[in-house]
Amino acid sequence: MPLNIIIGTQWGDEGKGRVVDLLAGQADYVARYNGGDNAGHTVQVGKQTFKLHLIPSGVIQPHTVGVIGNGLVVNPAVLLQEVEMLRALDIEIGPKRLKISHAAHIITPAHLALDAAREQARGIGKIGTTLRGIGPAYNHKTERSGLRVEAMRDLENFAESLKAHVETINKQLTTLYNAEPLDAQAVTEEYVNYAHQLKPYISNVSILLSQALQHGENVLAEGAQGTLLDLDHGTYPYVTSSNPTAPGALVGLGLGVGHIGHVIGVTKSFQTRVGEGPFPTEVDGSTAGRLRGTGVNPWDEFGTTTGRPRRVGWLDIVLLRYALRVNGVTELTITKLDVLSGLDALKICVGYRAGDQVYADLPLGPTDLDYEPVYEELNGWREDIMSVRAWDDLPAAAQAYVEHIEALCGVPAKMISVGPEREQIIQR
Ligand code: IMP
Repeated sequence: MPLNIIIGTQWGDEGKGRVVDLLAGQADYVARYNGGDNAGHTVQVGKQTFKLHLIPSGVIQPHTVGVIGNGLVVNPAVLLQEVEMLRALDIEIGPKRLKISHAAHIITPAHLALDAAREQARGIGKIGTTLRGIGPAYNHKTERSGLRVEAMRDLENFAESLKAHVETINKQLTTLYNAEPLDAQAVTEEYVNYAHQLKPYISNVSILLSQALQHGENVLAEGAQGTLLDLDHGTYPYVTSSNPTAPGALVGLGLGVGHIGHVIGVTKSFQTRVGEGPFPTEVDGSTAGRLRGTGVNPWDEFGTTTGRPRRVGWLDIVLLRYALRVNGVTELTITKLDVLSGLDALKICVGYRAGDQVYADLPLGPTDLDYEPVYEELNGWREDIMSVRAWDDLPAAAQAYVEHIEALCGVPAKMISVGPEREQIIQR
């Protein structure tokens, strides 16, 4: 059985969590491969809403094993809180159901303090990070001074390394950023306690998943964030510090290239972004209010991790085609089609204009967004489609919207979500 990869084609928040939850029904392992608790994946099962940041959303399906790959940066405090939160909801996540790669990196309070200090120092040039210590933890990884999860197996050495790590960052905080230092001893004690609790979860994820694939088991890789936030392929520097794109799944789980089955690109039926950076199809005013919602529903467009209102806009086919290319997407899942109900007309961006020239692809990719979007306008529909379960029952204008996206992208949309609940999905 293959490795299937779920990725976001936009700036994250495409609704990957609910798609993972659905496809995890057929998976043995569900593995996160990038990022950390900057992610926020929401899954609605009946009246229960699960909001997960670090543990793969697929563990809500009780037969799965959740995996945290080497590509992640892990905040142990958040991880243990999530284990407790799931336990309180009767989902038992012990070391048999959750495996953490020995080679993942650890986020400490010093990384959080650095993230905040650096954002403040950037002033108006700030990235708008989630302040979860993601960038600084990956900095230390690439600088080769990071703390890996495997260090937790030897508590004495771990305590020493951790203390030295906090003391080094304290110097940076006080001298470069005029920020308060942390209590290195207190952080060390806190983290030694976490290490005690997390030791049984540490695993060689590369061996575990490779053997599972060889034995015909099904592995679902769950991307966090989205293509346009990818460190290499996104709107740099307004990106995250990892590779959410599909190839990141191989590096971030320690798997070879021969296993890939489907790459499922999850695309919201409009566009959203949190944080700073370019967003050419962004809208404001009443259309934005309609797309964003008011915040009363868990699925309204407010950040799962930070609560910030998301910026909203029209679907950008130029960026979508780009995402399909850099990920090798084999099928699309279009989410939140129901949110478009009631709009008179729908716009989609099909090109970018500079003078007389219209580009179907951006010459330098998504950092090259200094152009004017060229829109096509499609008819909207009035009907509420949240109870529709079959393609043939969708209004003609909704079908035409989806079919037009497929025609422009050359990739089939196999699933369309029309509401937040597990069964509010149309399979084709
Ligand atoms: P960081 O990952 O916290 O360093 O934030 C870098 C950028 O990525 C900021 O614009 C964040 O808002 C954005 N970002 C990080 N994680 C997510 C996510 O899960 N969904 C949407 N945006 C995210």
